Amino acid sequence: GKGEYDHYMLKEIHNQPTALSNTIEGRVENGDVAFDALPAGSFAETETVQFVACGTSYHAAMYGAQLLREAGLRTEVVRASEYDSTAGPVDENTLVVAVTQSGETADTLDAVRTATDRGARSLAVTNVVGSTAAREADDAVYIRAGPEVGVAATKTYSSQAVTLALLTQRIAADVPEATPAADREEMLAELEHLPEYVEQVLEFTEAAELADDLLDSESYFFIGNGLSRSVALEGALKFKEITYEHAEGFASGQLKHGPLALVTEASPIFAVVTGDGDEKTKTNAIEAQSRGAPIVAVGPDDHGLVDVADATLSVPDTHPVWAGLLANVQLQLVSYHAADMLGRPIDKPRNLAKSVTVE
Ligand code: F6R
Repeated sequence: GKGEYDHYMLKEIHNQPTALSNTIEGRVENGDVAFDALPAGSFAETETVQFVACGTSYHAAMYGAQLLREAGLRTEVVRASEYDSTAGPVDENTLVVAVTQSGETADTLDAVRTATDRGARSLAVTNVVGSTAAREADDAVYIRAGPEVGVAATKTYSSQAVTLALLTQRIAADVPEATPAADREEMLAELEHLPEYVEQVLEFTEAAELADDLLDSESYFFIGNGLSRSVALEGALKFKEITYEHAEGFASGQLKHGPLALVTEASPIFAVVTGDGDEKTKTNAIEAQSRGAPIVAVGPDDHGLVDVADATLSVPDTHPVWAGLLANVQLQLVSYHAADMLGRPIDKPRNLAKSVTVE
């Protein structure tokens, strides 16, 4: 049941420290990443990694893909529903990674079937043991977030992003041309603290007050660059999904290529600044602010945007690979509290289902 919480979504947001501990458990050993199902050498033949996913899982896939690209691998992230028209060619040295919480999303299953018919090897990254994706793929890695009841994906996003970050290290260790992250040790050491950092966000957040302050706006924009880009897109998806308010997420640099026309004093901008590619976010946030938009800086305090931002949602300072996930927890809470104040049916938003089994 929901226990002390009014909604499953809030319970699941608060469950993230536990979920993340389970995700990480036993997978980092002596500075190496280990997955039971994927021993060292498993990816020796991998040349290209193609991620396929939908919605929130697509945002987690973007996160993982950027890390893999930084390790020197050829990477592609494809919206599963657009696989036929947008995916690049695959061959037997292509690993297609299906990121799907439920393991039952029809668009994602279909994309994997197409890729494997064309000769790719497949790996499912999923929360559900025995799901269709897990059964059909050549290999499966479980994110171990525990059951998620709320239609809005929260803890499964965090656990997917962490699993994919670890998987990146596992793959990079096998591929001769790849270079594992230079600050890998520091990154993995910080991961051990991630559950407690999430705990701190949950304890000290001012998301409810902020949601209250901003609630009668016309539109809500979310921007981010680098690793924060997927966090901004996810923030906007969650916000529109459960509040029914107009929200959009953009890569920071895109704002001036059109969306800026929508920016007014009634369109707050959540600027995600987490230590990776923040410069573009700062300049574009300041541009929007000069048009009257209130700026909310989301990230660790040392990002420089605090000086100019109208409000901040602060998170503990950590490695840029993990800081985005803390910023995301703040944005989950903003969406939750905004939806709650608007009296929305948070766990079952209109027109949406937990798993979309039609194409
Ligand atoms: C958003 C949400 C959806 C799912 C998407 C994919 O909160 O829940 O966007 O992320 O339908 O679902 P899975 O991960 O089950 O394939």
